[in-house]
Formats: sequence, structure tokens, C-alpha cells
Amino acid sequence: MRKITLAIAASLLVGAASPAFAVDEPENMIKYRKAVMSAIGGHTGAIAGVVKGEVSFVGHVEAHARGINEMSKLITQLFPTGTDNGAFKDTRALPAIWQDRAKFDAAAQALQDESAKLIEVAQGGDAGAIGAQLQNVGKACGGCHKPFRAEKK
Ligand code: HEC
Repeated sequence: MRKITLAIAASLLVGAASPAFAVDEPENMIKYRKAVMSAIGGHTGAIAGVVKGEVSFVGHVEAHARGINEMSKLITQLFPTGTDNGAFKDTRALPAIWQDRAKFDAAAQALQDESAKLIEVAQGGDAGAIGAQLQNVGKACGGCHKPFRAEKK
């Protein structure tokens, strides 16, 4: 066991010292931000399952809301200049993000605010109230996706 742990630690050190790819390359940034967005989408989908009554885990909603809230704080860091869908094909990020950065950042802030409210509402444990606030969270998703994300090809 100890040997294995040491081996893993050693391989992590080697990995850190000589990365096989450049850190923060646009392709990696795009892959990373899609993973963060997918995490947000996963939590949102999980809450929807509770709201629809498909599962009884009302007590889980707060954790999912916290997940969305924490991830929403990262969004503005994930879109460095030059990673739009004109320059790279593996992304749906529209150039509008960089043309109207203030509006984009405000859309990220809106998700932070609505997900913070969802944490509070979740603590009440009322599925109906959670559903109503989930709708507001959904509006915050759309408030960014509509102007800043390209349609699926
Ligand atoms: C401030 C802007 C913004 C907000 C708010 C936002 N998104 Fe996104 N989202 C984007 C952009 C831009 C993309 C496209 C990223 C890319 O393709 O590089 C995206 C992509 C996605 C994807 C696809 C990921 C993939 O693998 O291609 C999912 C799923 C997603 N968002 C879910 C959500 C959900 C659910 C919410 C709300 C709870 C949300 N997003 C809120 C900007 C936002």
C-alpha cells in the first residue's frame, strides 16, 4: 500500500516537472471550461430530477446548489482572449464574449446570485420553492447561452 502511494506521488511529481503539453494552451482551456460547464449542467439536471419528483433526495439539493454556485465563480476565468469559435472548432464560445465582456461577466454574476438564492431555498426543503428558484437559475443559464454560445452544429 505504502509502496503504491509513493509510486503515485512520484509519478505526480514527474508529471508536474515535465508536462507533456503546455499549460493553459487554448485547446486545454476549452476542454477544461467545457468540463466545468458540464459539472454545472450535471448539478442542474440532478436538482431537476428532485423537483420533478423522480427521486426523493430533497436533502441533496443544497449540495448541488453549492456545486453550481462554486463553479459559477470560476466562469469568468475560463474565457481568455483568442479562445472563440472562430479560432477553434471545438468550442461554441462566440466572439461576442470578448466584444461585450462586461455583459458576459454580469451574466456570470447573475448565475452566482441565483445559485446563492437556491442554496438558501434548498435549506427550507420545500420542493415547490426549490422548483421556482431552479427556474430562475435556468434563466441565468439562458441569459448567457443565448447571447454568448453558438447553436449546436
Ligand atoms: C456567463 C455565461 C454562462 C452561464 C451563466 C452559463 N453558461 Fe453554460 N456555457 C457557456 C458557454 C460560453 C458555453 C460554451 C463553452 C465552449 O463550447 O467552449 C457553455 C456550455 C455549456 C454546456 C456544454 C458543455 C460542453 O461539454 O460542451 C453545458 C452543459 C452548460 N453550458 C450548462 C450550463 C448550465 C446548466 C448553466 C446554468 C445553471 C450554465 N451553463 C450557465 C456560458 C455560460
